[in-house]
Amino acid sequence: MAAAPLQPVPASGETSLSEEDRAGQAYFDRIIADDSRIEPKDWMPEAYRKTLTRQISQHAHSEIIGMQPEANWITRAPSLKRKSILMAKVQDEAGHGLYLYSAAETLGTPRDVLNQQLLDGKAKYSSIFNYPARSWADMGAIGWLVDGAAIANQVPLCRASFGPYGRAMVRICKEESFHQRQGFEILLELSHGTPAQKKMAQDAVDRFYAPALMMFGPPDDDSPNSKQSMAWNIKRFSNDELRQRFVGMIAEQVKVLGLTLPDPELRFDEETGKWIHMELDWQEFKDVIAGRGPCNAQRLARRREAHENGAWVREAARAYAQKTADKRKAGAA
Ligand SMILES: [Fe+2]
Ligand SMILES: [Fe+2]
Repeated sequence: MAAAPLQPVPASGETSLSEEDRAGQAYFDRIIADDSRIEPKDWMPEAYRKTLTRQISQHAHSEIIGMQPEANWITRAPSLKRKSILMAKVQDEAGHGLYLYSAAETLGTPRDVLNQQLLDGKAKYSSIFNYPARSWADMGAIGWLVDGAAIANQVPLCRASFGPYGRAMVRICKEESFHQRQGFEILLELSHGTPAQKKMAQDAVDRFYAPALMMFGPPDDDSPNSKQSMAWNIKRFSNDELRQRFVGMIAEQVKVLGLTLPDPELRFDEETGKWIHMELDWQEFKDVIAGRGPCNAQRLARRREAHENGAWVREAARAYAQKTADKRKAGAA
């Protein structure tokens, strides 16, 4: 029997690992095995850094683009109270974008680069924000279903292995929970209002149900990157598991609303302990993600316009930073 090699034979691609990289990898593996946290200055595999930069920046873009369908209704909110709640909610989403861009930046890619990817149409963001918000009841459906799906997705991300991401998610989730309640309350009031109001609420739920279910991403068999993200403790549950939780939650809540979900196949299967729901149109999902959704062009055009309109703010901030630095220099001299 041949003697066992003293060093394990490196897998292809690992031959160029330096001593430092080997030690870094060992440290990283231990942190992941202990279910502990990787911080920005720690060694991490390039693929982990790349995956997180993509995921966190896409998440940040989604928060920022997600402000648009609702901002569109601020001036048309039916009362001062509704207007101020909606404004606070849209501002929260801007804040979420900022926490997330900050978290993404700690991985080494500056915010202006990430933002440019969005403006150039090269970055993805959540498909749901490419659907139009047609009525006031859509503010209810977005809060209840879209923010609700976001919570189901994001609560497990509070335990993501990358420290800045997990910590950002803790605060975001608290605010999302307020968003969901305000949406639920809008629908509750409409569904107990006039027949026309109830109809408007039902119509909004009918339009947002399937796109909200698609927010969890493609079925597990068609989600090749999920396995690696779970091995790195970024993702804790599969797309289908999260979708299941969400369906279970809204199937109960819709009864309180006095509305229905537009899903004739929806039922709880006692045998498997799973919710059965209708087939989703994954071709539509792919089209929307690829930029061919109902509002993609409009959303990006609006974002570019907002970016251009904000040029003077960036210029003023730069000038102020320069002035402060010059003053400090003069003081130190
Ligand atoms: Fe948000
Ligand atoms: Fe939200």
